[in-house]
Amino acid sequence: MLAEYNKSAVADRFSRCAERYQQHADLQSESANILGALLRERLLYKQGEQQSKQTQIANCILDLGCGPGIQGPRLRSFAAQYVGVDIASGMLAKAVRTNADSNLYIQADMENLPFTTNSFDLVYSNLAVQWSNNPLQLLQELQRITKPGGVIAFSTVLNDSLQPLARLRSGFLNRTAVNEQPTLRDWLAWCKLAGFQSVISEERTVSGWFQNVASLLRSISAIGADHQGNKQAPKLGVAEYTAICKGYEHYRTSQGLPLNYQLGFFALEVNDASC
Ligand SMILES: C[S@@+](CC[C@H](N)C(=O)[O-])C[C@H]1O[C@@H](n2cnc3c(N)ncnc32)[C@H](O)[C@@H]1O
Repeated sequence: MLAEYNKSAVADRFSRCAERYQQHADLQSESANILGALLRERLLYKQGEQQSKQTQIANCILDLGCGPGIQGPRLRSFAAQYVGVDIASGMLAKAVRTNADSNLYIQADMENLPFTTNSFDLVYSNLAVQWSNNPLQLLQELQRITKPGGVIAFSTVLNDSLQPLARLRSGFLNRTAVNEQPTLRDWLAWCKLAGFQSVISEERTVSGWFQNVASLLRSISAIGADHQGNKQAPKLGVAEYTAICKGYEHYRTSQGLPLNYQLGFFALEVNDASC
């Protein structure tokens, strides 16, 4: 069963991560590169359709779950106008300081966005929609605020992430120790139910490498990925920590200890009634 997130707890957790987030955000950067490539492919295809030579392909872009605004400069090259939305005030404060513009950022919940219908040409979201409590409703909300013919591009964490840590912890606790996440097929089914006809998707394993279990666990906590919805996260006791350190050595390579995330990448086109 998917986790039910307490939104104010999620906002607090991410606000507390804001200052040190970027130095642990290699996964986010890699995911943003893959999503950017998928988006360019999708947009170039659309541009080709329109025989257009312009480099700015959208008037208005929304960066949903923008965090500390790391992707802001890159996204602004796609569009004349950029808006970042996040639920965590601490993340937004950091984004404003980094990008020196307070007009671009708005605090809101992704499932209840303060925008009128058909506001954006492009909705972009890197590793944020896994915090949705209702992915179908979220897709419908994104469809509502995107113009017909516009594009929604997002990446998300899928089931079977945080491996082999999750397996080692479940083996010790005899129960699952991480948030259950949807599969790529779940997301494709929600896209279909929401009525999207043109959907590109891709699943990739993205790995981080660590010298020891302590630094691996710190990396998870620094990006807020240890937050566990309403239920209490199982604390790591000394006996479990020792067992995990021992078990993890079986996975060590010349790069160090792996932490594997399963990520899903999607580019959806909002149906254009005129086509
Ligand atoms: C892993 S961070 C990704 C940040 C940024 N997109 C990046 O690529 O660096 C996830 C972000 O989603 C935000 N978030 C979580 N739940 C949210 C919600 N319900 N509405 C809006 N933002 C949310 C968090 O505050 C956090 O900043």
